[in-house]
Amino acid sequence: MSRDAFYITTAIDYVNAEPHMGHAYEKVGADAMARYQRLRGKDVRFTIGTDEHGQKVAESAAALGLEPQQHVDRIAGRFQDAWKQLEISHDDFIRTTQPRHHKSVAELFTRVQSAGDLYLGDYVGWYCKFEETFWPETKLEQGNCPTCNRPVQKITERNWFFKLSKYTEPLKRHFQSNPEFILPVARRQEMMNILEEGLEDLSISRSTFQWGIPFPGHPGHVVYVWFDALINYITSAGFPDDAGSLARYWPADYHVIGKDIAKFHTIIWPAMLLSAGLPLPAHVFIHGFVLTPTGKMSKSLGNVIAPGEMAGKYGADALRYTLLREIAWGQDGVISEEILVNRYNRDLANDLGNLLHRIGTQIQKHFGGVVPPVAEGSKGPLEGELEQASREASRAAAAGYEAFAFHQALEGAWGLVRAANQYVDRAEPWKWAAGKWGDGLREENPPSAEQARVRLGTVLSVGSEALLQAATLLEPVIPATCQCIRATLGVEGRPHWDSEAPLSGRLAGKTLSLGAPLFPRLEAPARVEAAPKPAAKPPASKPAVRPPAAAPVESLGYDDFMRADLRVARVVSASRVPNADKLLQLSVSLGGAGERQVVAGIAQSYAPEELIGKQVVLVANLAPAKIRGIESHGMILAAADADGKHHVVTPDGSTPDGGRVK
Ligand code: MSP
Repeated sequence: MSRDAFYITTAIDYVNAEPHMGHAYEKVGADAMARYQRLRGKDVRFTIGTDEHGQKVAESAAALGLEPQQHVDRIAGRFQDAWKQLEISHDDFIRTTQPRHHKSVAELFTRVQSAGDLYLGDYVGWYCKFEETFWPETKLEQGNCPTCNRPVQKITERNWFFKLSKYTEPLKRHFQSNPEFILPVARRQEMMNILEEGLEDLSISRSTFQWGIPFPGHPGHVVYVWFDALINYITSAGFPDDAGSLARYWPADYHVIGKDIAKFHTIIWPAMLLSAGLPLPAHVFIHGFVLTPTGKMSKSLGNVIAPGEMAGKYGADALRYTLLREIAWGQDGVISEEILVNRYNRDLANDLGNLLHRIGTQIQKHFGGVVPPVAEGSKGPLEGELEQASREASRAAAAGYEAFAFHQALEGAWGLVRAANQYVDRAEPWKWAAGKWGDGLREENPPSAEQARVRLGTVLSVGSEALLQAATLLEPVIPATCQCIRATLGVEGRPHWDSEAPLSGRLAGKTLSLGAPLFPRLEAPARVEAAPKPAAKPPASKPAVRPPAAAPVESLGYDDFMRADLRVARVVSASRVPNADKLLQLSVSLGGAGERQVVAGIAQSYAPEELIGKQVVLVANLAPAKIRGIESHGMILAAADADGKHHVVTPDGSTPDGGRVK
């Protein structure tokens, strides 16, 4: 792949549900990365799309009295509408029912077959229609799908198999020699454990329904929907016919996906590519889940948030900003209308909107709407500090974007927005405008009229330029707002990541077109009730780790103690909770029982990276609570030493993740 090309993809969404906030979160994150890379001058290809085959889709169509194709056309349209509303800047929207994709699947099959990796065998297993996944009996939980807990169907049929097992060792080697293939790196071990257990061959054809890509050379069979769907990534890059495009964009730089489909992307897909003799993507980035204050989004709970509705009500940028500002990309996080409105008022209206408004109105009032020049020698220490803040913001934002740490990129960029507001506060342009000393100066004689006007011009010019630079740093996340800021400041053309340039008056002479305030303040919506709090303890606002008890506790019956479900858990990701010195937000793995998010008060005792990979003990059946707006489900046990430093309790020896502690 040529070095200035950058290919990024998201999962292609199932068309058996309407677009929801989880889908939107993934698309917005990948879109921010695509936009950032474009700002950096990369030739970006950004692909999203819909996954349209499978039994579930055929059944939903039948229930509606529609042909499957009619049904998928309708729903794919809804996804496209939603992404338009959210300003997603994809270059390709791939649909697995498109002829180009059928052709690509057929060609990949030819290659996999030539590699000797397909064979006919008898499949006996359990199929979850909802997850479109086969499970061996040993993985079922109380007879149900271990992922979604729905009933599974027993399937016995003569099927085609892919020799997935053959790729166990090559994949292990790939993981070892490419430690950043799976990101965040904390997710890698989980996938490595699957390889260590050994892979079974995969049944990849189905003959009990027909809504799928015909299995090449085997009438009556269709390709297993996951095998078909994964191939979309190379179809979009130009496989098999467009060799130029393929050479330019493949292998992909990033596949961006959610944690529930990590195995398909880090094991099955790479094995398919190895079999077909195609290079593997550089990285698979696994993001966390969007939750609501009442827990996981689900139709039956009626708490599914429609992204289009939120974007319609508050604007796409307010939604995009909240999604990426509130949730650390690799982790789970809670979103609600209330959280969005707070972010909107606090950050977008008070800080950013206000900055444009206060500078713009003064340029209009004192300079007839034309940005004044920065006169030679009229800059002082305040401008030096603002330039320094701008350089720091630019570096912090770039580092955040590069690492998919959008919350940090935004925090970094906001450093400049805040600094620019403080600059205006400290430079006191209103005083210069009144013919008095600004900049906090207290001289006896007033400044000359010319002196005051020159300094006023410099402050407004420099302030507006800092705002323009901030608009570049924020462009990946709030593109429409940044476009509006540029247009207001009279700037044309596309922005580039050149925000380390000094503040030198490059807007001088531009005519402003100041419109209505960018983000008029909103009233807070009705509060959404959080998940029920634990009946007695711990209080939701306290960190999960408590100091040593001073007084003896009354004795506890054996049965009472056994009601506490203590589990070994492995920390898979950790980050600081913004604006909370003591709190860390952790994702911990309970092995086969999935993952939990926990907020623990150990930030003054551990750096986040020290905890990654560590086994800890989790009180797993504690009712969920919200700590600083973040869902915390469980408590991590720790003891404090004489200096108050916490030490987490950890098993003395290797024990399986999820194992009971008694
Ligand atoms: N069709 C498959 C993907 C095939 S990719 C070759 C699929 N579709 S999905 O519609 O169920 O999910 C699409 C993406 O949305 C996945 O990456 C999934 O992890 C993500 N999300 C679904 N719910 C989510 C949240 N609540 N939060 C964040 N992302 C979540 O899987």
